[in-house]
Amino acid sequence: MKFFVDTGDVQEIRDLAATGMVDGVTTNPSLIAKTGRNFIEVVEEICGIVEGPVSAEVAATEHDQMLAEGRRLAKIAPNVCVKVPLTWNGLKVCRKLADEGTKVNVTLCFSPGQALLAGKAGATFVSPFVGRLDDIAHEGMDLIADIVTIFANYPAIETEILVASARSTLHVVQAARLGAHVATLPPKVLHQLAMHPLTDKGLDAFVADWKKTGQSIL
Ligand code: E4P
Repeated sequence: MKFFVDTGDVQEIRDLAATGMVDGVTTNPSLIAKTGRNFIEVVEEICGIVEGPVSAEVAATEHDQMLAEGRRLAKIAPNVCVKVPLTWNGLKVCRKLADEGTKVNVTLCFSPGQALLAGKAGATFVSPFVGRLDDIAHEGMDLIADIVTIFANYPAIETEILVASARSTLHVVQAARLGAHVATLPPKVLHQLAMHPLTDKGLDAFVADWKKTGQSIL
């Protein structure tokens, strides 16, 4: 499973990239607003840190403007993946950008039918939002299961399922069980994946016992 980091914080991305676990980055207008920085500059910087796809979202909702913004964002770096909303305008722009050889992430997906449309529009990724469905008392992970099943029926669909709005390590494990291609994770969740109290307890004991031997490996 590929892990993307879901943040606009360049320093966090730099630190996490050093672990070798970061296959890409996703941003959205809310994450960019949090940085207080210039959008294009942030995306440029992130693209220089990670080799994988960096999702940069259009701001327009109207077709022509959205297409122009997508083309502008695609020029930032070869690993930019233009993020468009799952609307008819977004789907039309997705088709055009995909035909021009630009990677597209169709975002704000909340139903299997929407995911099917993103697949037909030639999206590189479709982003179903599990956490926001959980928030309204729907099983977000059921949506991932449905999309995995549907896409498996149609091998011609090359779109990867990018699990978005993941809020916990449980989301990650459930999505991996279902075979979703990618999960985009807030930095905190990626950190939490490595944590277990028995690991800490076991390590404390090993360190203490090693000291008793009085030996040194180097
Ligand atoms: C990523 O592409 C999404 O924009 C992000 O995961 C949304 O997460 P949220 O629902 O926690 O804001």
